[in-house]
Amino acid sequence: MSMGDLFSGMTQGNEQLAPGAWLLRGFARDVATILLRDVASVAEIAPFRHLVTPGGYTMSVAMTNCGRVGWTSEARGYRYASTDPGTGRQWPDLPDSFADLARRAAETAGFPDFDPDACLINRYVPGSRLSLHQDRDENDRTAPIVSVSLGLPAVFQFGGLSRTDRPARYRLEHGDVVVWGGPSRFAYHGVLPVADGYHPETGNLRINITFRKVF
Ligand code: SIN
Ligand code: FE2
Repeated sequence: MSMGDLFSGMTQGNEQLAPGAWLLRGFARDVATILLRDVASVAEIAPFRHLVTPGGYTMSVAMTNCGRVGWTSEARGYRYASTDPGTGRQWPDLPDSFADLARRAAETAGFPDFDPDACLINRYVPGSRLSLHQDRDENDRTAPIVSVSLGLPAVFQFGGLSRTDRPARYRLEHGDVVVWGGPSRFAYHGVLPVADGYHPETGNLRINITFRKVF
């Protein structure tokens, strides 16, 4: 075991980003391989695709979903749909590994009994980014967002409730989980362009799994 392994296996402490917002470093590391296997199973049924925003911009992040409803973007707007518009079939079930992790992470951040009905899976290649935005397409305004980072690292921007609040930057690594809810539920956030690199479990990809309660 190297010093790096020794250190990464230790609890480095949970970092509070803002009231109701926590970075749980390494929280998902020990289940990461299982999560990635389950991401692959979901993508066999509901393939990753590049959605087009209502403004006509093709997103650099490829997306798919599992769970009762999935987030999608069309010319007429963003919405949650119970069927995959790409295949016409229901989204794959939320894998047990996902549900368990989401619940434990939310609880650790102070949000017990989290029961997500939507799980968005984002796939980044080097250069992919997600511009600063709020998650506000959900009817439920009380449940937190739980966001799991796997594979290549990324720089996560986390700001305030106004677009003009200058966001802080955090490096998210394989196995890190960010949870934001309560007073931070509508905080602006984004991901800077992912740098080129190689991760032993994902190659040149960053995978982000995000859990939400919509209804
Ligand atoms: C999101 O805002 O939905 C995803 C954030 C991330 O990829 O870390
Ligand atoms: Fe988001």
